[in-house]
Amino acid sequence: MQSPSFPELSGKRAIVTGGATGIGRAIATALSRQSIQVAICDINLAAAEQAAAEIGNGATAYAIDVRKRASVEATFSEVVERTGGYEILCANAGVSTMQHALE
Ligand SMILES: NC(=O)c1ccc[n+]([C@@H]2O[C@H](COP(=O)([O-])OP(=O)(O)OC[C@H]3O[C@@H](n4cnc5c(N)ncnc54)[C@H](O)[C@@H]3O)[C@@H](O)[C@H]2O)c1
Repeated sequence: MQSPSFPELSGKRAIVTGGATGIGRAIATALSRQSIQVAICDINLAAAEQAAAEIGNGATAYAIDVRKRASVEATFSEVVERTGGYEILCANAGVSTMQHALE
């Protein structure tokens, strides 16, 4: 692994919502390369687990549905219980749709 560009971030803990794929996964990968311990939280747990396994470096996977407060609270509590806390939150999860302007 390349050495971290931001050594002051080394050992920090991050939550990345929607971290299983796309931009979130790229964020999780980039954070991990800075020796940040990443909790990948996603509605698709299987994809989150695969991402965590491939990213490695202590990355872990959790199920979450950011549309539901109870799910967010439960998952964040689980992360805190397992890791002791977090310093970085990337609230990335979301969906967007493309439609013609007149629709
Ligand atoms: N791709 C773009 O061009 C673009 C542009 C502007 C903003 N965004 C925003 O950036 C974020 C990531 O975009 P992306 O292109 O990587 O999307 P993506 O669809 O590739 O990934 C989204 C991830 O979020 C997860 N997810 C979806 N709904 C969820 C929920 N309710 N709870 C938890 N996880 C959920 C999905 O399982 C997936 O892993 C989104 O919020 C999107 O709206 C994307």
